[in-house]
Amino acid sequence: MAKKYYITTPIYYPSGNWHIGHCYTTVICDALARFHKLMGEDVFFLTGTDEHGQKVEKEAAKRGITPREFIDPLVAELQDMWRLLDVGYDRFLRTTDEDHVKCVQRIYQKLYDSGDVYKAEYSGYYCTPCESFWTEAQLKEGKCPDCGREVTLQKEESYFFRLSKYAPRLLKLYEDNPEFLQPKSRVNEMVNNFLKAGLTDLSVSRTTVKWGVPLPFDPKHTAYVWIDALSNYISALGYGSENDALYKKYWSADLHLVGKEIVRFHAIIWPAILMALGEPLPKQIYGHGWLLIGGEKLSKSKENARPELTDPYELVKRYGADAVRYFLLREIPFGSDGEYTTERFLKRINSDLANDLGNLVSRTSAMIVQNFESLPPCGEKTALDLELEEMANGLFAKVKDAMDRLNAPEALEHIFALVGRANKYIDETTPWLLAKDPSERERLGTVLYHLAEVCRICAVLLKPFLTRSTSLILKSFSCPEDMGLESVSFGYLQAGARVEKLPPIFPRIDVAKELAAVEKLVKEKNAQKSAPKGAQKSAPSVISSEAEKSQITIDEFGKVELKIGEVIACEKVKKSEKLLHETVKVGEETRSVVSGIAKFYTPEEMVGKKVVLVTNLKPAKLCGVLSEGMILCAEDEEGNLTLLSPEKAIASGAKVR
Ligand code: MSP
Repeated sequence: MAKKYYITTPIYYPSGNWHIGHCYTTVICDALARFHKLMGEDVFFLTGTDEHGQKVEKEAAKRGITPREFIDPLVAELQDMWRLLDVGYDRFLRTTDEDHVKCVQRIYQKLYDSGDVYKAEYSGYYCTPCESFWTEAQLKEGKCPDCGREVTLQKEESYFFRLSKYAPRLLKLYEDNPEFLQPKSRVNEMVNNFLKAGLTDLSVSRTTVKWGVPLPFDPKHTAYVWIDALSNYISALGYGSENDALYKKYWSADLHLVGKEIVRFHAIIWPAILMALGEPLPKQIYGHGWLLIGGEKLSKSKENARPELTDPYELVKRYGADAVRYFLLREIPFGSDGEYTTERFLKRINSDLANDLGNLVSRTSAMIVQNFESLPPCGEKTALDLELEEMANGLFAKVKDAMDRLNAPEALEHIFALVGRANKYIDETTPWLLAKDPSERERLGTVLYHLAEVCRICAVLLKPFLTRSTSLILKSFSCPEDMGLESVSFGYLQAGARVEKLPPIFPRIDVAKELAAVEKLVKEKNAQKSAPKGAQKSAPSVISSEAEKSQITIDEFGKVELKIGEVIACEKVKKSEKLLHETVKVGEETRSVVSGIAKFYTPEEMVGKKVVLVTNLKPAKLCGVLSEGMILCAEDEEGNLTLLSPEKAIASGAKVR
């Protein structure tokens, strides 16, 4: 029976605005899954979306749509992105899937019945973007220690999971099984910062969040999103259901690959839940590093993507899926962070794919077609030939060793060392000179045979990483696309096999020209205030229409803070005919505001008026007077102004939305 291999990515928040950093975990998992399939293993590769929680509930409410209406297009976009990048998962789990919801309920029921989940009152600080609770001591300057954003104090009745009870077993797990969490530095972090500091029980239900899985024993509570999300790793296999054949076959996971910021949930909470359920633990959790821009995590919320091209749709459209996959798999040292720049991306693609691999396969196929009708026979071998052969024959072991350590960059380095060696072999054997001398025909055949075999072996071993170009290479040497490991040693190709000339599979990019074109494109994109993809019904488009350019997103609109203010004093600004200086009360505070309405209102008329004020504009001085806001007016075509006022009585400080 084939060895099984169960690999998972984290399930993604349906946030939209996907960037190349989002693709990192999943492309690595896909390459690992493909590598294990190539080795003949029975692979199950899981990914999906994490759809419940306050964040989604709030975003949908802001747009006046249901959570489902909000997330469906975003999930479709994500699936589209995986299709574009040739990510071949076996299941895409949505936490709104019925079987998952039922499984989460079964998990809670089991933990409640065993006493590991109990009711108490919760009081703590909640970070909505991270969906995480913190104690006061854990906050950094009063903000979320993970992302630095505002937290809110929340007190409510909640169910708790007895996490504290599992601390000794977790410590023992890390002592006995150092391989469980990788890389090693993350183990130290978990053990020293969390486990040794002592664990407190975890609040695992909410009454204030409606968009979640209702607890079966108390449906006014919904499941804490992280328990909901982590459960996906077993719910996807039918854990606890009548249909649990996949669970029996594939659990436990061979690898949960996750970004380093979510290691805590996977390395502490998840094993504790499994211990409480009495289920086996995953074999390994790996916390990988991030793609950085300017030293910071590439992140949608930080909007730090500019001026680089980070949109996966655009990158695939311009350079192809293989180029994007290759960059992600080759460039970032596994386990560490790696800086992303468009220039680095282009240089890597040019040097490895266009120059080294592209040149080798197109030169080899062209020379065979030019000089022989089909693959020539291999004649007597020289020391140089044998050296190349030996290197090619040893390649699989090196690639496997690197992939066993999940190290795709190292595996690719080995493959490209052979590609480089073969290019050097061309320079050393000078086949273009051999072709001119009829007495060297047999030697020419031997050289080209060796090159064809190297191309083929490299293409087979590159299949997990480059999904498209490898098929073209194999096809041009008349090899079946599903050629497997049985053929990764020298001698598979037979003289007389049909060979087709390969066009350049990775055209060389003029880096300077491309950088200029990309900069222009990125500028245009940044200028576009396109509507949120999540609220659109249509499929994501790579290039936005003119109409979209003049639109802004709800998030952009949300940046403008509008409040009701009451004018409590007003005078004319000296030396100005247009300006009035108002003192405006906004809730508890008063602000100095200057507005260009002197032609339409007298200072006396202004006092006592309720106005709409923009309260988060940067303060400025107008005619030497400080202005800490802007009073909103309507203006007709002749330039006549009229104040906007609330239609009914409302206290100053009220928010305008
Ligand atoms: N929903 C949770 C995971 C729950 S799993 C039970 C979550 N989702 S996420 O959408 O924020 O992240 C999904 C994956 O994308 C994570 O592995 C995260 O580390 C990865 N990345 C997001 N930005 C990234 C970079 N800039 N660089 C590398 N990976 C990054 O967390």
